[in-house]
Amino acid sequence: MTATPAPLPSNPPAAPAAAVAPATAPTAAAAPTAAAARTVGLTKVYGSGDTAVRALDHLDLTVGAGSFTAVMGPSGSGKSTLMHCLAGLDTATSGQIWLGDTDLTTLSDKALTILRRERIGFVFQAFNLLPMLTAEQNITLPLRLAGRPVDRDWFTQVTATLGLTDRLPHRPGELSGGQQQRVAMARSLMTRPDVLFADEPTGALDSRSSTEMLTFLRRSSTDFGQTIVMVTHDPNAAAYADRVILLADGRLAGDLADPNVESVLAAMATLGE
Ligand SMILES: Nc1ncnc2c1ncn2[C@@H]1O[C@H](COP(=O)(O)OP(=O)(O)OP(=O)(O)O)[C@@H](O)[C@H]1O
Ligand SMILES: [Mg+2]
Repeated sequence: MTATPAPLPSNPPAAPAAAVAPATAPTAAAAPTAAAARTVGLTKVYGSGDTAVRALDHLDLTVGAGSFTAVMGPSGSGKSTLMHCLAGLDTATSGQIWLGDTDLTTLSDKALTILRRERIGFVFQAFNLLPMLTAEQNITLPLRLAGRPVDRDWFTQVTATLGLTDRLPHRPGELSGGQQQRVAMARSLMTRPDVLFADEPTGALDSRSSTEMLTFLRRSSTDFGQTIVMVTHDPNAAAYADRVILLADGRLAGDLADPNVESVLAAMATLGE
């Protein structure tokens, strides 16, 4: 790990237009050692009877360690539900959810809470910063709650890369929306999570802040081996990822390697987006 990562190209390299793969056969046999996260037959049903909603429908997905995956699909297709299940924030109706070698569906509530704290980073669209704490206190809060020491070098590196160095003594109310989002991102990275989940992290940002955020995520994966799963509706944002998966009605409806804006747009068009 270097203190000054090499600059990344502002755009991901162009890749040949990838064909949209049809929903594939189950990938349960994928090598578990290469998977940071994995679902096997993951089904999530909200409610019951006539009002039941099948948000995820027998989903088989493997997220490679160190990879940067974008999740796309129409509103209501199950993207947030998938993130919440993978992050241990919501439970499966049936199927399995693996984080590395741990099956989340077998854990007690207490064990899940500890796993979330120690191995998961989550950036919500609403930043969930505590208004009475400074940016620095917000960023280090999860470590302090876990009784773990703050790695000052890592703190300095993350906050400098996110352009927060001179905003650290300020409370969220004194920060712009983009700065608050970056504080939330820094907070989620302080514990060096196994997987960082980000649900539309650029949704509330202007184009410059959005580009900075995406460049940071790309660099985190390339330079630090950070595994990232990001929900987005934006083909430009998705093109920063190594892979784009598309959901429709809780099922895998497409899987693109080395996406670019054109291939993402083409794949979205097949879903009628
Ligand atoms: N807590 C809940 N109770 C009942 N139904 C829910 C709940 N959460 C989600 N749903 C339903 O599950 C389906 C999938 O929702 P989800 O939030 O995963 O969609 P999404 O792909 O993230 O959509 P968006 O792009 O609008 O954020 C939707 O039909 C939604 O109404
Ligand atoms: Mg959502």
